Formats: sequence, C-alpha cells, structure tokens
Amino acid sequence: MDGKIILVTGAAGYIGSHTCVELLDAGYRVVALDNLCNSSREALLRVEALSGRAVPFHFADVRDAAALDILFAQHAIDAVIHFAGLKAVGESVDAPLHYFDNNVAGSLCLLNCMRRAGIHHFLFSSSATVYGDPETVPIPEQACTRVTNPYGRSKLMIEEMLADLMRSDAQWVIGVLRYFNPVGAHASGMIGEDPRGIPNNLLPFISQVAAGQRECVAVYGADYPTPDGTGVRDYIHVVDLARGHVAALRRMFASGGGFTVNLGTGRGYSVLQMLRAFEAVSGRSIPFELVARRPGDIGICYADTRLAKELLDWQAGKDIHAMCADHWRWQSMNPRGYSGSVLQGG
Ligand code: NAD
Ligand code: WQD
Repeated sequence: MDGKIILVTGAAGYIGSHTCVELLDAGYRVVALDNLCNSSREALLRVEALSGRAVPFHFADVRDAAALDILFAQHAIDAVIHFAGLKAVGESVDAPLHYFDNNVAGSLCLLNCMRRAGIHHFLFSSSATVYGDPETVPIPEQACTRVTNPYGRSKLMIEEMLADLMRSDAQWVIGVLRYFNPVGAHASGMIGEDPRGIPNNLLPFISQVAAGQRECVAVYGADYPTPDGTGVRDYIHVVDLARGHVAALRRMFASGGGFTVNLGTGRGYSVLQMLRAFEAVSGRSIPFELVARRPGDIGICYADTRLAKELLDWQAGKDIHAMCADHWRWQSMNPRGYSGSVLQGG
C-alpha cells in the first residue's frame, strides 16, 4: 500500500480505534478526525502506544467544511474511511433531525470536501439494520432493504447518495460495509467499547453485570422462533471487523469499482448462548431476567458472508470465546472505561 494516507473519521470511537490499529499494522499512515461526542482522545493515545506510530489528530466535526478543507490541504489523503456518526436506535427515534443532520448532512459535507480536494476513495460504515426484519437468513447483500427507524434510514439514505455519486462520476471508488453485531476488544485490553451511560447493546451490558456494576441482564423476549426463544444475532469480533476494512481498502486500491458487502461471521448466537459463553470466560455468574420483547427488535439476523470472501478475500476468524474473553479483559483492565486513565484527555 506504499504508505498510503488514510483519513479515518470517528477514529476515536469503538470500531474506528480498532481499525486505526489494523491500518497502521498493515503499513498505512493514518490521520484521525473526531469531535469526541461519543469517545475519548485517550483511545487514540492508546492506538499510538499499541502501534508505536504517530497518528495526527484533528478535533473537528465532519459537518465543518472549513476544517475539512484545511485538513485536506495539510495531508495528501489517499482514501477516507467514514465511521463518524451517531448510532443509538432509540435516540434516533426521539431526535430524528439530529440523526439526519449528523449522519446524512455530515456525510454530504465530507463528500463535497473530498470532491473539491480531488479525493475519490471512500469506505463507508453501514449496518445490517438496513435489512430490517429479513425474509430469510443468512441475509445476502441483494436482500430487500426496509428500515424501521431514523438511524437505519440515515444509513440507507447515505448508501443511496453514494450509489448516485458513483453513477455520476466514474472516478469515485466507494465501498459500503454492512456490519452485523460488533463485539469484543483488542486482545491487549488497551482499547475497547466505552459506552456512555447505560449500554444499549447486549455485550457491554453483560460485561458490566459480570463486573458487578449492574445487577441483572434483562433478556428482551423469550418467545422468538429460535432454539431457546431468545433473539439470535451475528456477533463479530471488532478486530475481525477492523481487518475487513483493511481488506476492503486493498480491493479498492487494486481494482477500483464500488461494492456493498456484509461483514459478519455467518453464524447466529442467541442472547442466552452469549450470556453462558461470557459466564464461562469470566468465571462470574451473570444473573438475568426474561422480560418482554424490546420494541422494534427482530428475532433472527445473520449474514451471508460469501461475497466478502469472494470480493475482499476476507472472512472472520475469531469465535465467541475470543469475543467474550477479549471483551472481559478490556472490562477488567478498564472498569471505568477511558475515564479511569491518567492519560485521559478527551
Ligand atoms: P462510536 O460512537 O464508538 O464511534 C463513532 C465516532 O464518531 C465517535 O468517536 C464520535 O465521537 C464520532 N462522531 C460522531 N459524530 C461526529 C461528527 N459529526 N463529527 C466528527 N466525529 C463524530 O460508534 P462505533 O460503534 O465505533 O460505530 C462506528 C460507525 O459504525 C458508525 O457510523 C455506526 O453507525 C456504524 N455501525 C456501528 C455498529 C455497532 O453496533 N457498533 C453496527 C453497524 C454500524
Ligand atoms: C442484541 C440482542 C436484543 C440488550 C443494534 C442496532 C443495530 C446495530 C447493532 C448499529 C437482541 C438482546 C440486548 C439487552 C437483550 N447498530 N438484548 N438485553 O439490536 O441486534 O442491533 O446494534 O448499526 O442497528 O439495532 O443489538 O446488542 O442491542 O441486541 O436481551 O440489555 O440482545 O433483544 O436480541 P441489535 P443489541
């Protein structure tokens, strides 16, 4: 990759920070941008410590065109990986305009600045949420999209904007990655997911119960058409996911052309299977209570992974044992997340 320079937006976040490490390990240079609305500067200091490489940091919002123009004038960026966005489904229902502004207008601003700067390689974080409640599993990329909340709609709107952009100008090389359920942490325990307040997602909640910070996991629904009645998802280790981005970039630089690809493992696990796996690796007992379904939730969701293998020559390698063990190591080493660090700056 000849030391190509990658701008990573949302670089201080959960997936962004892990992807920075994998990009640096693969020999890329990284420029980071984040407004730290859901993350800490500390994550990027730890990325630098882990990789032994410097990562120039721009404290900026992707909706700030002037800041982006300056950044693109300062660094000879070859490609942009765009993680910056808001991701809480429930919050998006309460504040849809905020989500469309941050996610859709933010992407639009970034793409306009890239066009002005003559940068046309763009890799976008989409989500399996665009499939809604799927007709069949595993879900192939050509399955119908049917979003059910403003967060999902913001992702689909951006996907459609990107498709129009590619149709309009053949210079654009755009990859869309639809993530399934990212979990786990870097094996060092130095970086991981650091949710603010009560976690929305299952694994951070389970790990906080295991750590004694919360009392009990509410299992949302035991009446789904699944083997144990609880919801089934395609959990993917965040390091595998990060490596999927490196594979996608390699493909974009080598062959050009656009693609939309699922990043998942192709295997589904139930809530209770995840809970038991976490108990096994942590050695802690995790109390749970079966409660009503969470509104908007679906029963079963897992990826068809064949296109990722064929197009990107990538597949996930880490199993649920590694996902839970690495999540637990991060939790145990950082009981208060990044805010417990003496290096904390963001
Ligand atoms: P995260 O919240 O940890 O990271 C997002 C980062 O973007 C944060 O550091 C935040 O401060 C930053 N950010 C948000 N709005 C910004 C703005 N306007 N300008 C600059 N920075 C901004 O989330 P994550 O889990 O790392 O998710 C990364 C991306 O992947 C998001 O776009 C998310 O929608 C998508 N995604 C996440 C999941 C998941 O379950 N984690 C699943 C599918 C897709
Ligand atoms: C997983 C399973 C819950 C919490 C969400 C977004 C999606 C994507 C990933 C960004 C489900 C159950 C959960 C709890 C529980 N994000 N659960 N008790 O809902 O698959 O996807 O994150 O793109 O858009 O919707 O993930 O981790 O919230 O839930 O029983 O306290 O765990 O019902 O079956 P989900 P999740």
